[in-house]
Amino acid sequence: NKSLAVLTSGGDSQGMNAAIRSVVRVSTQLGLNVYIVKEGYYGLITGEDYIVKANWFDVSSILSLGGTFIGTKRCMEFMTKEGRLEAARNLILLDISNLIVIGGDGSLFGANIFRKEWSSYVNELLKCGNRLISQEASEKCARLNLVGIVGSIDNDFSGTDMTIGADTALHRIIEAIDSIASTAFSHQRTFIMEVMGRTCGYLAIKSALMCEADYMFIKEWPQKLDWPEKLCKNVSLAREMGKRLNIIIVSEGAVDENGNTITSEMVKNILVDRLNQDARITVLGHVQRGGSPSAFDRTLATRMGAHAVLSILKASDETKVMCLKSNAIVESSLVDCVQATIKVAEAIKNNDFEKALEYRGPGFKN
Ligand code: F6P
Repeated sequence: NKSLAVLTSGGDSQGMNAAIRSVVRVSTQLGLNVYIVKEGYYGLITGEDYIVKANWFDVSSILSLGGTFIGTKRCMEFMTKEGRLEAARNLILLDISNLIVIGGDGSLFGANIFRKEWSSYVNELLKCGNRLISQEASEKCARLNLVGIVGSIDNDFSGTDMTIGADTALHRIIEAIDSIASTAFSHQRTFIMEVMGRTCGYLAIKSALMCEADYMFIKEWPQKLDWPEKLCKNVSLAREMGKRLNIIIVSEGAVDENGNTITSEMVKNILVDRLNQDARITVLGHVQRGGSPSAFDRTLATRMGAHAVLSILKASDETKVMCLKSNAIVESSLVDCVQATIKVAEAIKNNDFEKALEYRGPGFKN
């Protein structure tokens, strides 16, 4: 089968457009029919105008744009069998049995279920009079070939050293902290910078190191209950040494050793109450996920997109995901990567951080 569709799902990330562009252009060069699916799995379920044929020029001038120009959605309907059956029908009606999904771990996991259940959908659609698909179409689309590409600013996917968007998000954070630092210096203030990452501390660790932060709170490093004393000690020491400002990074998943959330507000109150500091909170929010992708993300996404097309043509029996390992793009088993990602979360829950790093992969540790 020579038809392939590409969609973006879940939260967007900078570089997704570069991946779509690469998929469309490499497919076109190889003589495949390529379709873009608008609004993620929602478009797959809705069909018709949401699944559109694309050509080389449809993806011109999108390389430098953040977000995803074909739209994305978190789609609950795709989590039901009825929704997935409808999605299968819409693909089969267009003779499409190759699908590239660009998204986070949840989106890719959903895609894997779709692939595994595909033949049952084909059989059901053949039996079902009012949504008839032809015998010929069912034979052409007897199996679904599926390849995933990880787009997420969180860099929380095991198996790949980097996910598409993480590098750009990190740059956004660093730029913001550098800007804050100049005004903080003038007023001798302390800024608590809240960064994204869900349960993964990658953005927080990297930004803390590269902005010379005085303290950092992340999920993977649950704070002992005496963290307020330690925080105050670090901050006071820095001031005694002549520093005119302090930067504290709080990841949105930060916790203490009892698993209680540590919020930016809590950190600020400690500094105000105990040290009488002039402290302010800046929640970076979706600024981190927006704007133009870095050269690194454009390159990573372009490489992954091209490899995804080549990989899907090999028609493997399992779902593959494109990973960056030691600067090479490799195809890995999606199920293995998702399972390792789940094990990371379990290890963190059990306070076994060495194990968590092991499951994350050597690239992340470096
Ligand atoms: O997964 C990417 C991410 O930006 C997380 O860092 C954050 O927790 C979440 O998505 C925010 O989701 P939403 O855009 O739905 O508010």
